[in-house]
Amino acid sequence: MNGIPALWCCLFAGLLAGCATNPAPPVGPVTLKQAYQHDFLIGVAVNQAQFEGRDPRGDALIRAQFNSISPENVLKWESVHPQPGRFDFSAADAYVRFGEQNHQAVIGHTLVWHSQTPAWVFQDAAGRPVSREVLLQRMREHILTVVGRYRGRIKGWDVVNEALNEDGTLRESPWKRIIGPDYIEKAFQYAHEADPQAELHYNDFSLENEPKRNGAIALIKKLKAEGIPITAVGLQGHVKMDWPTMAQEEATITAFADLGVKVMITELDVDVVPATQQNHSADIALNGRAAAGANIFTNGLSAARQQALAQRYGELFRVFVKHRAAIARVTFWGVTDGDSWLNSPGRVNYPLLFDRQGRPKPAFEQVLRAADGP
Ligand code: GLA
Repeated sequence: MNGIPALWCCLFAGLLAGCATNPAPPVGPVTLKQAYQHDFLIGVAVNQAQFEGRDPRGDALIRAQFNSISPENVLKWESVHPQPGRFDFSAADAYVRFGEQNHQAVIGHTLVWHSQTPAWVFQDAAGRPVSREVLLQRMREHILTVVGRYRGRIKGWDVVNEALNEDGTLRESPWKRIIGPDYIEKAFQYAHEADPQAELHYNDFSLENEPKRNGAIALIKKLKAEGIPITAVGLQGHVKMDWPTMAQEEATITAFADLGVKVMITELDVDVVPATQQNHSADIALNGRAAAGANIFTNGLSAARQQALAQRYGELFRVFVKHRAAIARVTFWGVTDGDSWLNSPGRVNYPLLFDRQGRPKPAFEQVLRAADGP
């Protein structure tokens, strides 16, 4: 893409979501970020091909429709800090630059998690678990280096991801086993030390379920009582067609808003492929099991299912609009259906607002319509 035509095309990118060699079809005059400009940020998780310019169609949609980005993988520990003493910021730097060029709020995801963190982090040279002191020291070095590098450029960080079990107790992750429950406080303190202006989030899935939500409420209350600078709770929002109910969604948003933290919907997608076992969880391991035998939409969604998905998105966004004073951001976990993690392992899924060709789906129209209020 170059020269005057490309420039004109990009000037109209808000109107036409395509300005590249492989353009996406027009999506109409109103974009998601325009429709919600007075409500909350509209974000999207981006992959490496998108922010490195290898997916012009996705790139055009990201620029036209969204005013915040999250990194699908490139800021996770295994990407940025693969070996002791060796950091690799090549992809992460490109991600942050991409968001800045597009004037988008750039989100950091994620610092302390039990998954996508290399085994060496928790072990000594002989493979034995390290001491509390060693692990705290490693965590501090990681957070100061990564958050410090993007100080003033990354608006908010998912500091701790998925620390809770479904019953609301703390997950027995290597972090908890080795450091103890205060690893959460320490992670927030180190992040604040590295960038005192950055917003700091606790992020998790299935908080719409009451036992887990109560665990999160207790955790946030404890952090706030200790003066830990937590600004938001991230509800991942990996939802299903029949879960959560809107009553659960509202109760969850209200419960966290009442604690004085912002609410963010951080990883929104709607899984339209029914699980073969009842599983209201975004736990990757569990979903892998649930996927077997559930791949029933390989030839596309029926019109009826497509409409049902649109209604589902509509009801979710009407709730978000109703609680817009509490909600700072709604981020989709992927641009098009083809980008979604919910296609794996071996599933064909349709969880987002744009189809595999980058065309807006009926769900897109419903989300726009919800911005007008009830
Ligand atoms: C969790 C993580 C995300 C992503 C999804 C699945 O929700 O927070 O980073 O890995 O799982 O892709």
